[in-house]
Amino acid sequence: MNVKFFILLILLGLLVSCGDDMGEGENQDTLTDIPYLPESYQLIIPQGFPQMVIPADNPMTMAGVELGRHLFYDAILSIDSTQSCSSCHLVQSNFTDNLKVSSGVDGIAGTRSSMSLLNVGFANTGLFWDGRVMTLEEQAVLPVEDPIELHDSWPNVEQKLQRSSFYPKLFRQAFGIEQIGEIDRELAVKAIAQFERSLVSSGNSKYDRVIAGQAVFTDQELDGFEIFFDINENQALHAECGHCHNAPLFTTNEYFNNGIDQVGSLSDFADKGRGEVSGMIFDNGAFKVPTLRNIESSAPFMHDGRFATLDDVIDHYVSGGHPADNLAAVIRPLSLDEDNRAALKAFILTLRDPDFLENEAFSSPFK
Ligand code: HEC
Ligand code: HEC
Repeated sequence: MNVKFFILLILLGLLVSCGDDMGEGENQDTLTDIPYLPESYQLIIPQGFPQMVIPADNPMTMAGVELGRHLFYDAILSIDSTQSCSSCHLVQSNFTDNLKVSSGVDGIAGTRSSMSLLNVGFANTGLFWDGRVMTLEEQAVLPVEDPIELHDSWPNVEQKLQRSSFYPKLFRQAFGIEQIGEIDRELAVKAIAQFERSLVSSGNSKYDRVIAGQAVFTDQELDGFEIFFDINENQALHAECGHCHNAPLFTTNEYFNNGIDQVGSLSDFADKGRGEVSGMIFDNGAFKVPTLRNIESSAPFMHDGRFATLDDVIDHYVSGGHPADNLAAVIRPLSLDEDNRAALKAFILTLRDPDFLENEAFSSPFK
């Protein structure tokens, strides 16, 4: 055999096997004709709020947030194209689903209530009711493969995104990728996290306007404010709420047992919550303190949606909750009469933020 021809054959063989190694999904179509001009996203954070910690490897850009918004609202992330993140996190419901517990694509119900994503970018002590995940990027990986959520697989979702008529362009604009085959879960979850960090309070709630000196509380709201933050002259009217739901986020992001479950011992909690994550029995039955901003839109309440109304919640706190060795020290029977309870609720409703719920930029891009 001719030596040159032989070498050619070997080279050809190498080329073919290279091609095989790339796998079927590795689309090498280039995207470099689409301009990549990243423009940073200017977060508007209300006065008095803390600074948001943004990971250095995922700076927010206009195109990144827009891509994340598409992914958040797109059922392409689910096995049968029936659900997206937004199925359980609806903007008009303060990014919850108003159900006691959520169900995924197969109709299987979970055991916990969906959580609001309002101000989720400030949650720096862990995500989920038990804080088992630390970053929004890590969190966003999970629902896609969770059997009681979107129940797809990431390799499959990556293929669907690569084959889409518009995602390759959006990924190029957001991350400057050069080939369609570079679209992967890491970039997808980065974009979703960017969108989630943009979900910040408007700063226009009545409470915020009062604090800024632009509005005044009614007498009833002022009463409730004093009860909530323990500043009423009458110590009997201190409700202790502000210890855990403190301003400006109306959560400390800490974990507590607020006494909703009756148990014989600390091992008996049906849902161990924080204890499952920390491995410490003293954390059993403790859950993350949720924000109270826009809270009426998040009903029903608590990690399992057990309370339908804010009145039920207030009744719970007035009762002092069920005793347990780890019941938070500030949870104790309160001496609030009907008027005091109505005032407390009126104050909590000053945390309504319709501008957040109606913000076009937070709504579905597919309409
Ligand atoms: C089937 C309903 C469902 C779907 C779909 C879903 N979620 Fe959730 N989400 C929940 C529930 C329920 C929780 C609380 C779970 C827990 O504590 O174990 C939660 C919690 C979260 C949290 C934690 C919030 C906090 O304050 O700690 C984030 C962030 C989140 N979801 C984002 C997403 C994203 C992004 C998607 C899409 C990729 C998504 N979710 C899809 C139901 C859902
Ligand atoms: C010791 C800390 C603590 C104090 C004090 C406290 N809470 Fe809570 N609150 C929590 C925790 C923790 C949860 C979540 C518990 C769960 O889901 O199991 C919660 C949940 C809630 C919820 C439901 C939120 C949701 O998204 O489902 C409301 C409403 C609420 N608290 C209002 C109040 C009011 C009003 C007061 C004062 C009367 C108060 N809290 C006092 C820790 C506290």
